Amino acid sequence: MGLKEKSIDLRRRMRNALRGGGEKAIQRQKAIGKLTARERIISLLDHNTFHEYDLFVEHAAKDFDMDKKYLPGDGVITGTGMIMGHPVCIYAQDFTVAGGSLGWMHAKKITKIMDHALKLKVPLIGINDSGGARIQEGVNSLAGYGEIFYRNTLASGVIPQISVILGPCAGGAVYSPALTDFVFVVENISKMFITGPEVIKTVLGEEISMEALGGARVHCETTGNAHFFAESEQQCFDQIKNLVSYIPWNNARKAEKFPKKRPNSKKYKIGNIIPSVPREPYDVRNVIRAVTDDSSFMEIQELFAQNIVIGFGRMDGETVGFVANQPMVLAGVLDVDSSDKAARFIRYCDSFNIPLVTLVDLPGYLPGVDQEHAGVIRHGAKILYAYSEATVPKITLIMRKAYGGGYIAMCSHHLRADFVFAWPTAEIAVMGPEGAANIIFRKEIAAAEDPDAFRKQKVEEYKEKFANPYVAAAYGYIDAVIEPSETRKMLIRALDISKDKEVFLPAKKHGVPPF
Ligand code: HXC
Repeated sequence: MGLKEKSIDLRRRMRNALRGGGEKAIQRQKAIGKLTARERIISLLDHNTFHEYDLFVEHAAKDFDMDKKYLPGDGVITGTGMIMGHPVCIYAQDFTVAGGSLGWMHAKKITKIMDHALKLKVPLIGINDSGGARIQEGVNSLAGYGEIFYRNTLASGVIPQISVILGPCAGGAVYSPALTDFVFVVENISKMFITGPEVIKTVLGEEISMEALGGARVHCETTGNAHFFAESEQQCFDQIKNLVSYIPWNNARKAEKFPKKRPNSKKYKIGNIIPSVPREPYDVRNVIRAVTDDSSFMEIQELFAQNIVIGFGRMDGETVGFVANQPMVLAGVLDVDSSDKAARFIRYCDSFNIPLVTLVDLPGYLPGVDQEHAGVIRHGAKILYAYSEATVPKITLIMRKAYGGGYIAMCSHHLRADFVFAWPTAEIAVMGPEGAANIIFRKEIAAAEDPDAFRKQKVEEYKEKFANPYVAAAYGYIDAVIEPSETRKMLIRALDISKDKEVFLPAKKHGVPPF
């Protein structure tokens, strides 16, 4: 064959490989609102930036007549591209080819692109759509998963890892997304579970649909396994692009700097957000939007453990990670789920050089048998650990209540916040005035002629003495008491002066956090 014939042969081979599982299988996927694996990659990446590799990889399985089957690309597409100008490595499982099931060569394609991502220090994006371990390939499929999990762990904290669940992700396969930093799901399309409805019915006699067991909403609202919920694949890709704009490519870089913008101070008037009545709820996201550039805020895990708010915003063009108690939900208490949610985010920001701003308004840890038995001690400790260990700039603002363990946990000076500010409305005490007066004056209240009036008087005395920022400020635990209107200016100054912060922790292989 001359070059011309060889080129024709190459194009024929490419056409063959590019047809995936064939028109019928593709139409079956389209009918349920899914794009093909290649369409997904093209939609997500910047125009014309996808370079595909390993198109001609084939499986090497022999059993169960596999040697007679041709599986184009072995059911997974891999390559490199750009998102918002950021280079990325990407793979997408192709459900039209043997249900996107993971055999040995399929896994080798994924691990090869993972190795590239780690070596080139660029984010890794995995689009999961698979029936799980390829049954015909037995232990080799399991080995493939093990190789992926190992690499997910090595890459953790070095490059951002993003998982997109766009179909089934069942059995042990779910552990790759679980080991990555951000999991995106789409309503009616994403399904994640360890054991599916059939197994649950056989073993436990319980009937449940796939959606109710492990659909997108369940993982965003209940389990916390997913971080972003979308109603369509296109919306999901827009969310990924937005996320990528906030984070650095790897742990040796800083996030890209954007042009500075002012917040929308007409819509978000910071002085009016906190109600004048002490216990009244308000939406802490309005405080965040009142201080960020363009009032933009990308919330993460918006539907899970809503008593704490986490996410990214920019201040003077630079990415900031926000952690804020949400007084609108459970008065903003810390509990098992909110501690998990915040601790993981703090560690992410610390790994990727993103400074942390913490907004405090909470009555403490949530009391109750449920919480105690669910391990609020163990889970609550995670947030203490994460803040203490974090060496990125840490700026804290106490807006209203900072009681008890909550005061310490929400990035107090004692956990090495660099700057702690408080509004004049801040109340820093061991507990709320009512609870405190009831405990320390119990005997006197019981003996009083008018116990109610006496209790009220003692509550007032306690409030007068402790429900303010000045006792803490007198000990230097608060660096400055500031007017709400000064907040953005003070935060930006503090972030600016902390840019070259250096902290050296004791040498160790790694700590032993309360996982
Ligand atoms: C081989 C598979 C497969 C698998 C699907 N297919 N899953 N082939 N191994 N695991 C094939 C089907 O045979 C079919 O091939 C094609 O993919 C499409 O599958 P359908 O069943 O027709 O699709 P659908 O009706 O949409 O159902 C999707 C599904 C179902 C719910 C995912 O396929 C399913 O339940 N698959 C098995 C899931 C599972 O139990 N996997 C193992 C999990 S254990 P044809 O040729 O007919 O088109 C696991 C362990 C990992 O993953 C451990 C890691 C530590």
